[in-house]
Amino acid sequence: MNSDLVQLLAAARLAADRAAAYLREQEGTLPPEAWAEKRPSDFVTAIDRTAERIIAEILLREVPASRVVGEELTPDDHRDGLTWIVDPLDGTTNYLHRFPFYAVSIAAVLDGEPLAGVVVHVSPGIRYHAVRGGGAWQDDRRIHVSAVTAPRLALIGTGFPYSELEHLALYQRQFAAVVAGSGGVRRPGSAALDLCDVAAGRFDGFWEYSLHAWDMAGGALLVEEAGGRVTKIDGSPFETEVGSICAANPALHGPLVQALASSRAHPANSRDGLAELLPPEVASKIRGG
Ligand code: IPD
Ligand code: CA
Ligand code: CA
Repeated sequence: MNSDLVQLLAAARLAADRAAAYLREQEGTLPPEAWAEKRPSDFVTAIDRTAERIIAEILLREVPASRVVGEELTPDDHRDGLTWIVDPLDGTTNYLHRFPFYAVSIAAVLDGEPLAGVVVHVSPGIRYHAVRGGGAWQDDRRIHVSAVTAPRLALIGTGFPYSELEHLALYQRQFAAVVAGSGGVRRPGSAALDLCDVAAGRFDGFWEYSLHAWDMAGGALLVEEAGGRVTKIDGSPFETEVGSICAANPALHGPLVQALASSRAHPANSRDGLAELLPPEVASKIRGG
C-alpha cells in the first residue's frame, strides 16, 4: 500500500474510533424531547453533531490538505480534491432506541473516486476498512463476499424508503418480489453496516433508494474490495454522491437487479396504481393532494 493511503487510513481509523468511543459513552443519555426530526422519520441530535466535530477535527489535523463533507455540519461543501465523506452516526434511529446496530462511516475520496473507507460497528467494537486495491478487512481479517449463487438461498438486506414517499409503491412490489424469490430479507437500519455485511458475506445482496454519499461511500468501497458488484438499482454505474444502490456478490447481482426491474412494469407502480397499495392519505400526499 502506498504511504499516502496508509496515512489516509490511519487518520480515518483514529477519527472513527474516537467518535465511536464518544457514541458508546453517550448511548441512552438523550431523552425523546432532545430528538429533532430533520424530515419525517429522519432524526438528528446534539450527539450526531458532536461526533462529527470530533471526526472533522482529527481528519483535518492529520491530513491538512483535505476537506470534510459531513452529514450534519457541512453536507453542501465542495467535493473537489481530497475530500472526507463522513456520517458521524449512521443509524441514528437505532441509536436513540438503543438498538445496537449503528455505525461511524468515513471515506476518503479524491476527485470523486473513493480511495479508503472505514466503518465502525460501534456496539460490538468491530472495525471494517478498505483501501482501493488493498482488499476489504474486518478488524485484522480479510473478508470476501459470499459464495451463494442460488437466489432461493440468498439473504438480502434492504432499507425502507421513508422520505421520498413516491418510491413506496414501487418499493413494495420490489420487496414482495425479493421476499418471494430469496431465502429471506432483513432491514437492520444502517446502510453503512448493511454494505459491510455484504462485504463480509453475511448478506448476499442489498438494495436501497435515496441514500446519500455519507451512507454509502465507505461501505460501497468495502463491497468492491471484497469482490462484490455495486451499481444503482437499475444496474447502471454506481454514483457515490446520491441515489440508489444495489450491491451483491457477482453471481447474485444480476438476478437481484432483474428481480427489482421486473417489479417496475407492474401497473401498481404508476401513480394511479398507488391507491391499491397505500392508505388514501399517503397516496394523496404523494400525488401532492
Ligand atoms: C440512515 C440509515 C438507514 C437508511 C437511511 C439512512 P442516518 O442514515 O443508513 O439504514 O435506511 O436511508 O438515512 O440518517 O441514520 O444517518
Ligand atoms: Ca446515514
Ligand atoms: Ca447520520
